[in-house]
Amino acid sequence: MSITDVIETEHRTGQIKIHGPEGFEGMRRAGRLAAECLDMLTPHVVPGVVTDHLDRLAREFILDHGAIPACLFYRGYAKTVCISPNHVVCHGIPGERTLREGDIVNIDVTVIVDGWHGDTSRMYGVGPVSPRAKRLIDVTYEGLERGLAEVKPGARTGDIGHAIQSYVESMRCSVVRDFCGHGLGRVFHDAPNILHFGHKGMGELLRPGMFFTIEPMVNLGKHPVKLLSDGWTAVTRDKSLSAQCEHSVAVTETGYEVFTVSPTGQFRPPVESA
Ligand code: MF3
Ligand code: CO
Ligand code: CO
Repeated sequence: MSITDVIETEHRTGQIKIHGPEGFEGMRRAGRLAAECLDMLTPHVVPGVVTDHLDRLAREFILDHGAIPACLFYRGYAKTVCISPNHVVCHGIPGERTLREGDIVNIDVTVIVDGWHGDTSRMYGVGPVSPRAKRLIDVTYEGLERGLAEVKPGARTGDIGHAIQSYVESMRCSVVRDFCGHGLGRVFHDAPNILHFGHKGMGELLRPGMFFTIEPMVNLGKHPVKLLSDGWTAVTRDKSLSAQCEHSVAVTETGYEVFTVSPTGQFRPPVESA
């Protein structure tokens, strides 16, 4: 059992939870802090920065705000954020690696505020990046937007996946199959699974009060990934570039609410093309 298992006051039951006003309030606070943590990192993602330094900045920021880094000690993970450069698809472990000009990098943070989880990630360009890297990032954010637009009562999880997959593939990119979005709330990874590919009308019915993430991983090449021997780092099999972005959201009576919005509106750090 990990520390996060102890902190979690509820457990994964397999049933999709329906939350009320208290849950929405808690998730707004957690989501905002997670977004603010990524805002804080933006000016630090520059050529020459060591990824462990970014991890330390994130950890101190979260603790200074009276919150808990959800990833730290989660299933043996020993860092606060995941940092996934270039062909790393997700779950890159911060360490000695120095970021260099032209790298594209995903930073994924999850915070716990009063028991509620805020989970979000963004893409950062390290100085100017190649036009194809910039295009991949644009396609990934647009994929998330297309998925979000499907979220409303009566829709199904497959509608989200279908919208993302059909758009991404129309742009000649591919959607990673091996990782998915997830329900969250007082539990970090809960039902339902949110696949970023699929078929309209399939999957779970969406109802007001459901909370989950949408976090598409998009590759410039083919979709298969492999896991490195550290047990966490997932990379593209064909070594092509990969990008990801993530929001934590709710289904509302009329559509959706995004919890992980930054009060300053900076979900997409500006990426300069070389
Ligand atoms: N934040 C990741 C997600 O989107 C989970 C990271 S788990 C960790 O679900 F242990 F790798 F940090
Ligand atoms: Co997530
Ligand atoms: Co995440």
